[in-house]
Amino acid sequence: MLIHLTAAGTSFVLDARGPRPPAVLHWGAALGELSDQELSAYADASVPANPPSSLDAPPYLSLLPTLGDGWNGRPAIPGAPLLEVTDVSQPSPGSVLVRLSAGELSVTTEIELSAQGVLRLRHTVAPSGSFEPGSLAVVLPVPARASELLDFGGIWAYERKPQRSPLRTGAWVRETRHGKPGHDDPYLMMLGTPGFTFRSGEVWAVHLAWSGDKQLWAEKSALGSTVLGAGELLAPGEMRLDGPYTTPWTVAVWSDQGIDGLSERLHTWIRSRRAPLKPRPVVLNTWEAVYFDHSLERLTALADAAAEVGVERFVLDDGWFRGRTDDRRALGDWTVDTARWPDGLQPLIDVVHARGMDFGLWLEPEMISPDSDLARAHPDWILGGPSAATWRHQLVLDLSRPAAYTYVLDRLDALLAEYPIAYVKWDHNRDVAQDGAAHRQTSALYRLMAELKRRFPALEIESCAAGGGRIDLGILDLVDRFWASDTNDALERQQIQRWTNVLMPPELLGSHVGAPVAHITGRTGALGFRLATSLFGHAGVEWDLTTTTADERALIGEWVAEYKKRRALLHGGTVVRSDGDDPERLVHGVVSPDRRTALFALVTLRAGAAAVPERMRFAGLDPDRSYVVRPLVLGGPPRTTQDAPPPWLADGEVTLPASVLMRVGLPPSLLTPEQAILFTVDAI
Ligand code: DGJ
Repeated sequence: MLIHLTAAGTSFVLDARGPRPPAVLHWGAALGELSDQELSAYADASVPANPPSSLDAPPYLSLLPTLGDGWNGRPAIPGAPLLEVTDVSQPSPGSVLVRLSAGELSVTTEIELSAQGVLRLRHTVAPSGSFEPGSLAVVLPVPARASELLDFGGIWAYERKPQRSPLRTGAWVRETRHGKPGHDDPYLMMLGTPGFTFRSGEVWAVHLAWSGDKQLWAEKSALGSTVLGAGELLAPGEMRLDGPYTTPWTVAVWSDQGIDGLSERLHTWIRSRRAPLKPRPVVLNTWEAVYFDHSLERLTALADAAAEVGVERFVLDDGWFRGRTDDRRALGDWTVDTARWPDGLQPLIDVVHARGMDFGLWLEPEMISPDSDLARAHPDWILGGPSAATWRHQLVLDLSRPAAYTYVLDRLDALLAEYPIAYVKWDHNRDVAQDGAAHRQTSALYRLMAELKRRFPALEIESCAAGGGRIDLGILDLVDRFWASDTNDALERQQIQRWTNVLMPPELLGSHVGAPVAHITGRTGALGFRLATSLFGHAGVEWDLTTTTADERALIGEWVAEYKKRRALLHGGTVVRSDGDDPERLVHGVVSPDRRTALFALVTLRAGAAAVPERMRFAGLDPDRSYVVRPLVLGGPPRTTQDAPPPWLADGEVTLPASVLMRVGLPPSLLTPEQAILFTVDAI
C-alpha cells in the first residue's frame, strides 16, 4: 500500500507495500493530488542507484531501520530481528496504522498528520519471550540539503540557549538523564537548509512528547541518508514488559518559512488540541516577594497591592506547609504549617477572594526532605534510600511505590477538597538521579496529575521544574502553563521566551515582572523593558509590590489594563520574529489570525552594531492591506541616544501599505541597551 497524507502545505508519503518495514519516501512540501498510478510511478522512481561496497540491493531506509536491511546508523529498535509488514490500514484520512512482526515480536506503528501539518508517530511493541525493548525510537529521513543543525543547551535560570552547527557525517546525539527534560533539554531539534532563519529556509524538526529521559539525534550516514531520531531513553533492564510498551509520541514538523513557519504549525496544532483556555489571569506569585517569610499580615498587604494594579490570581509559593521555614526541610509534609498559619490558609484565601482574585498554591509532590516527618516515618519510600545524594537538600519520593503514591494523592486531594485552590504551581527541583527509575517515576507523575484533574476538573496546573526544566508536549496534556525560567531578569527572559516560544505558544508560558534589581542576576532593569518583556506570555508579577511607589503601581496598572485589553491577540495570534542584521536588536510580535491587528516590540539587548540601525520590519501582515503603526509606551518612555526621533515617530503614527512595512520597514528609535518599545499595528 502506498500512502500519501497531506495537510496545510505538507505531504508525507509512505511506501508500505511490504513485506519490508515501510519507508518514508517524502516528508516536506505538499506534492498536490497524486493518483494511485502517479504515486506508484513515484515510488518506483524513488529507488536509488546501488552503490559499491554495500548490500547487493539499492539502499532502503525504513521507518524501523536495522543492520539487517543495510542501515548501520542508530537503530530505531536496538536488537530487533528483521520485521515484516503484516497489515497496513488508514483509520482516518490523516492517519496510518502499520503492523509488523518477526516471530513472537509484534510492533505497531501509528502515524498521524494533523490538519495543521504536524506529524506524530509512535510504536507499540507487544511482549515476546526473549525480546526486551531497549530505547525505541522514531527515525525520519530528511533531505541532505537540511545540513544545518539547531537545538538547545542551557542551565538553571538560563534555559534554551540555541546552538547551531553544520551536520557532519556521523550522529549528533542529545541524551537527557535528569528524569525530566532538564534545563539543557534539546527541546526541539531542527535541521534546515544552510542559513535558515526565523522567516526563511526549509526546516525539519522533532520533539519528544515525554517528561522523562530521552534521546534526540540528527545523523548523516556515509551512504547518503540524513535522519532525525527521537525516543525515550531507557536504562539497560529498565523496561521489563508484562504488557505492551508504547513509546511517547515523536512530534515532527516541517516548514519552508523558517522557524516561524514551524511555530505557526505547532502553535495552531497545540491550540486545536486543548479545550479553549479561560482568559489567562494576571498572576501575582509570592516567591520573590516574600520567599519563606509567610504571615497573614504581610501577605494581606501584598494582596492589597496586587488587587490595586489589577492582578487576578494570587499564588502562594513555597513556605506554607508544616515546618517549611527554608529549603532544607519538610517536603512531603503536605499539611498547613500551624505556626505561621494558625487558622489554616482560609483567612488568606478569604483576603484574596475579597479582592477579586483566585488563589493558587505551590507544591512539589514528587519530593521528600530527609528532615521531614514523612522521611522519618517511611525511609523506604525514598528513591535510592535515605543515603542517596541530596540536591537542594532534598530526595525523590518513589512514586512507583503504591503506598507512597497513595499518600501523596490523598494529601493533595485533601488540600484541594479543603481549600478553593484554582491553580497549583507543581515544582520539581532536582534530578531523579537514579538509574532505571525515570520511566516509572514519569508514568506515576502522569497518573497522579491525571487523577487530580479527574477529581478536580477546574484545577489548573503549572509545570515548573526549578524554572523551565520540564517543558514538553507530554506533560502538556495534563498542565495548563509552564514556568519558563526562575530568572525574572528581562534581558535573559527575552532570549528564554523567544526560544521557548518556538515550540510552546505564549499563553502557556508564565512571564512575570520582577523587581527592579533582578534577584538571580543582580542586574537592574528599566520598568518599561521589564513590562514589555512580560507582556508576551501568560503575564504576572513576581515583585514585592508593597515596596513600590504609587507612581510605579499606576504604571503597572496601565500595563495590566493593556494586557487584559489585548489578551485575545497575545494568546491567540501568530508569533512572528522579524529577521534583522543585528542579533542585539530584536523585532518580534503577535499578529491576529485575521491579520487585522498586531502588537510588535522593538527590543535592544546590548549596544548595537550601527549608530542608525537597520529599519524594523513588521512580519506576518496581510500584504493586501494598509496599516497604521503607533508606538505604545508602557512603564515610561524608553531611554534613547537620539538627538531627534525619526519624524514618523515624532508625528505619533504612520499609515503605510503592508508591503512597505514588511519589506522595507520603518526607522526605529535609537534605544540604549536593555530597552524596549511597543507598536500597535492596525489595518485601516
Ligand atoms: C523553584 C521555582 O522555580 C521557584 O519559582 C520557586 O517556586 C522555588 N522553587 C520555591 O522553592
